Amino acid sequence: MNAEHLKQQAAEAALDYVKDGMKLGLGTGSTAVYFIKGLGEMVANGLNVICVPTSIASHELAKSLNIPLTTLDETPKLDLVVDGADELDAELNLIKGGGAALLREKIVAAASAKMVVIADDSKLVAPLGAYPLPVEVIPFGAAATVELMHKAIKDAGSTGAVTLRNNADGTPLITDGGHYIYDCALGSIANPKQLALNLNVIPGVVEHGLFIGLAQVAILATKTGIQKIEI
Ligand code: 5RP
Repeated sequence: MNAEHLKQQAAEAALDYVKDGMKLGLGTGSTAVYFIKGLGEMVANGLNVICVPTSIASHELAKSLNIPLTTLDETPKLDLVVDGADELDAELNLIKGGGAALLREKIVAAASAKMVVIADDSKLVAPLGAYPLPVEVIPFGAAATVELMHKAIKDAGSTGAVTLRNNADGTPLITDGGHYIYDCALGSIANPKQLALNLNVIPGVVEHGLFIGLAQVAILATKTGIQKIEI
């Protein structure tokens, strides 16, 4: 069973959490694509839901599948968001932002009564941090913000290179919100909660990819079946 098949299995298992009449958040990334496609089939078969996508890409995909869409301004409270992750630990702390959508993903997760994470089991790690932590930064004064990020990282007991994420043509990647992403290669994150707090107070940091206490369920596809973590 290849990685794509595992992603699809996790995404399809998450469709069981969707009930008629729900207000849903739609995640971003290759695993979330399988969920959105499955949801599109359910909508075509008569399911009644309304959804807030977490990126322009997910918006476009959902629209193409005739999934009814809304915004958090019209619908500020959601029942459920289903999203992927770059890493998760057994307490369902996450690293997200590999697809540069972490800001909208976190806003939507915080507006949702429940967050279900979908992934293949290679994403379950202890501790977090082998995957570089994405941090979304305002372009104004970015070098000064990066200095403060280094201090925040050190004060939380970690260390590592902080690198601006570029597009394939070498220009800086700009997020859906108009910001930069810096990837922090920390190797392991000794204290995710402290690091999250330290990054949160830096004025130029819009958000970071540590999702602490937001997810309640993880659906992990393994070669031998679905593994669920619920907290
Ligand atoms: C996007 C994300 C994605 O959920 C994360 O990168 C996982 O993506 P994939 O399902 O493609 O592995 O956080 O910002």
